[in-house]
Amino acid sequence: MTLADVVLTRTSVRRYRPDPLTPLQREELGKAVRMCNERSGLHIRLVCERPEPFTLLKSYGIFKGVRNYFVFAGSSSDPHLEEKCGYYGEELVLTAAAMGLGTCWIGGTYDKSGCLRHLEPGESLVCVAALGRPEERSGRDKLVAMASKRKTRPSAELARNYSGAPSWFMSGIASVQRAPSARNRQAYQFVWKGDGTVQANITGQHEFSMVDLGIAKYHFELGAHGGQWTWGSGGAFVKAEEEKSCGAVVWREEKGQRQYLLARHNGGHWSFPKGHVEAGEKEIDTARREILEETGLETKIDTGFRQTVTYYPKPGVVKDVVFFTARPSGGQEQAQVEEIAEIGWFSFQEACSLITFASDEDVLLAADRYLSGK
Ligand SMILES: Cc1cc2nc3c(=O)[nH]c(=O)nc-3n(C[C@H](O)[C@H](O)[C@H](O)COP(=O)(O)O)c2cc1C
Repeated sequence: MTLADVVLTRTSVRRYRPDPLTPLQREELGKAVRMCNERSGLHIRLVCERPEPFTLLKSYGIFKGVRNYFVFAGSSSDPHLEEKCGYYGEELVLTAAAMGLGTCWIGGTYDKSGCLRHLEPGESLVCVAALGRPEERSGRDKLVAMASKRKTRPSAELARNYSGAPSWFMSGIASVQRAPSARNRQAYQFVWKGDGTVQANITGQHEFSMVDLGIAKYHFELGAHGGQWTWGSGGAFVKAEEEKSCGAVVWREEKGQRQYLLARHNGGHWSFPKGHVEAGEKEIDTARREILEETGLETKIDTGFRQTVTYYPKPGVVKDVVFFTARPSGGQEQAQVEEIAEIGWFSFQEACSLITFASDEDVLLAADRYLSGK
């Protein structure tokens, strides 16, 4: 499930089951937090099994069972601290939701002193977001969710000057409609500028207006499928150029154990065989051709598994890589010297530790689960 898919189904969860996050969930979320901090300069923390900020006072009772949360914080001198917490925080909230966890941004209804001790000198706390296994929806949660759905602002209010705007602009707005915001205000507007850029403006000031703007900008970028924002109210969005590649998680069975084919690219990273879609080519044909070119193997592709990884290979370019699973059906193993340093077959565990990028590891996990269930 991509983060753009998660946007369509996420709603705030306020009641959680007591069970802890699994070690794998903690590891995955910890990795995601570290990556966000590296990219943003923020100091976000994942806090687990520390319910105190949500249990000290009875008036915080709207939430039940919160034991795990992100603390959104960073340098007090960062002029865009709040907006960045919104933008990168929403990436983490959606990442958690994609793992099947419930989430809820929390600005007011918790004891801040319990979170302040996670901060270093010179840092400010912006807000937190709860996460955990959702309790079955109670009547109250259902009512809150229904109320928030009712109040989602129409696209005609969130967008301005949009006649003649490209379809990616309206997809961006549709994604903004689903953005969480403090008290569900959604006090912002996105303006189509006619020169191909978009401007995002605050339309009302409140304590969390810049956090809300950061969240909304992240949603717009997901819906528009890639681009770059500048910070601040009045900040501009430039749409990224789109590229596409296809490949596969190639596997075989050796002595009753599944093995996976990995390629070490000349750049040094270990990944699956994959490459650019050529004009007029179908996804499955690209995958088959690229595997043959890079590894010398002919394969039978299984399109029953299809997972997309999206990333920015360079500024101004967004790339989708579609992965299937595949089994060898012929050919002779041979690494393509121009692009591939070596190829090899590895057990699931070996492949997990060799693969360089977390997003490729996610694909392997999903493919392994898929193949085990077949
Ligand atoms: C910055 C921020 C602060 C929030 N603070 C609270 C809060 O203190 N208590 C609460 O119950 N919900 C809080 N929310 C959740 C919103 O009420 C919720 O996102 C909104 O009603 C939309 O509903 P949805 O998330 O289910 O789409 C907050 C959301 C944001 C973005």
